[in-house]
Amino acid sequence: MTATFASPDTAAIPLHIIDADDLDSIPASARDWAATCGFKGKSGATLVIPAADGAVAMALVGRGSATSRQRTRFGVAAAARKLPAGTYAIVAGLTGPALEEAALGWLLESYDFSRYKKPKSDAVRLVAPSGIDAARLEMIAAGEALTRDLINTPTNDMSPADLEDAARSLARRHDAKINVITGDDLISSNFPMIHAVGRASATPPRLIEMTWGDTGPHLTLVGKGVCFDTGGLNIKPGSSMGLMKKDMGGAATTLGLASMIMALKLPIRLRLLIPAVENSISANAFRPQDILTSRKGLTVEINNTDAEGRLVLADALALACEEDTDLVISMATLTGAARVAVGPDLSPFFTDDDAAATALTKAAAQVADPVWRLPFHAPYEDMIEPGVADLDNAPSGGFAGAITAALFLRRFVSRPYIHFDIYGWNPTAKPARPKGGVGMGARAILDALPDLLKL
Ligand code: BES
Ligand code: MN
Ligand code: ZN
Repeated sequence: MTATFASPDTAAIPLHIIDADDLDSIPASARDWAATCGFKGKSGATLVIPAADGAVAMALVGRGSATSRQRTRFGVAAAARKLPAGTYAIVAGLTGPALEEAALGWLLESYDFSRYKKPKSDAVRLVAPSGIDAARLEMIAAGEALTRDLINTPTNDMSPADLEDAARSLARRHDAKINVITGDDLISSNFPMIHAVGRASATPPRLIEMTWGDTGPHLTLVGKGVCFDTGGLNIKPGSSMGLMKKDMGGAATTLGLASMIMALKLPIRLRLLIPAVENSISANAFRPQDILTSRKGLTVEINNTDAEGRLVLADALALACEEDTDLVISMATLTGAARVAVGPDLSPFFTDDDAAATALTKAAAQVADPVWRLPFHAPYEDMIEPGVADLDNAPSGGFAGAITAALFLRRFVSRPYIHFDIYGWNPTAKPARPKGGVGMGARAILDALPDLLKL
C-alpha cells in the first residue's frame, strides 16, 4: 500500500522540526513543556503539545544535530509512526532538500504491507509541504511501495507467473508494451540459460520484456527475477534459504524504478528485461558440471547451481545488447559476498564509466540512497575461466565473489553498463525503511538519469 500527502486545504496540526543544535527554534509557548519533558531535538524524537481541550495543539519533531544526521537518514520521518493519529503540516524548521527528504521519508515510513493482515488504520498523515514537488515525491514513493510489495509477497503468491502479472498491470497503467516468452519457447527463442535454471520449477520460467516511450535516449534495465532460490541441487541450508523469496529483489527494484520513470513521463525510451524463474529441485534440474551454451554463444561450466542469478541475467544482458541502447543497468540480489563487503544498507555498483560513477555517487548522497563503487577488476578475469568451457559460474574459494560475479555479467555486455548488486531487504526497522523488502539504488539512479543519459 502506498501513502500520499493530505491536501493543503486540510485542517492540520502545526509541526515544528527542531534542530538539536538550535533548541531556540522551539516556539516560545512550548519551551517550558519541552524542558519539562526532556525534549532536546534528538533525531526522530517527538513531543506533543496538548491544547486545553485535550486535542493536539502542536507537535515538535527532532532532526538531531549535524553530527547525528550523518548516522541517520530520514530521521524526521520516524515521527510518522510515533505521533498520535491525525494530519500534520510542517510549519517550520526545514527547507529545500531537507524538507524534501522529510516529506519523502514520511511517505516511505507510512508504507504498510497489508496483503495478509488488517491494514493500519490510525494514519499519521502529512500535508503536502509547499515549495517542493509533492506530486513527484508521491510518484517516487509509489514506485518504492511497488518494489516492497513485490519483495514482501511470499513465493506462493509471487511465482514467475505472478511476477509477469505484476509487470503486465504496471504496463497497463502506463500504456507500455509487454512481451513474454515462457517455458519451452525459451529454447526455440534461444534463451538456454534462463530455461536451464528455471525448468525444474512447477511454474515455468519466462523472460518478461516491457518497453515504453518513443523519444529520447534509450535506457535498458535488467532485473534478476529469481522468485525463490533454493540453491538448486547445490541446495542451500535452511538458514540461508529462509529469506530467498526476496531473490527477485532486482526485478522488483527495476519495476519500481520503471514505475517512477513512467509516472514522471521522463523523456527517454525504456526497455525492461526480467528473467523470471524459480531455482528449484526436480529430476530435470540443471546440475553441477553441466556445460551450458548461452544465448551469446559463450559456454558456461556450472560449478554451483546456487550461482543461478548470473546465468539468467547473462541471457537477458545478451538480448539487451543486441539492440542499440545508450545504457544498460542490471540490478540483482546476486551475491552474499556483496553483503559481507558492505552490509545490508549500501548498494554496491560496478561500471567502467568514471563520469557515471561520479554522477551516481553524487545523486545517492542527494536523495539518501547510499551507493558504493566496486571495481570491475580485470586481473581477476582468469578466476572465472575454468579451462573446460569459456566461463565458470562459481569460482572456487569465493575470493572477491561480488567482483567475479560482476565480471561474469560483463562478458555478456557490449554497451555502456552499470551493474548493482543489491540486498533488497531491510533486516531491522529504520526511519522510512520498515523491516522487510526495500528498493535499493533506484532513487539514486532516477536522480542521476539526467547525467547518465545526458537528458
Ligand atoms: N541469491 C543468492 C545471493 C544472495 C544470498 C544474496 C544471500 C543475498 C543474500 C545467489 O543466487 C547465490 O546463491 N549466490 C552464491 C554464489 C556462489 C555459489 C558463487 C553466493 O553468493 O553464495
Ligand atoms: Mn543462488
Ligand atoms: Zn539467487
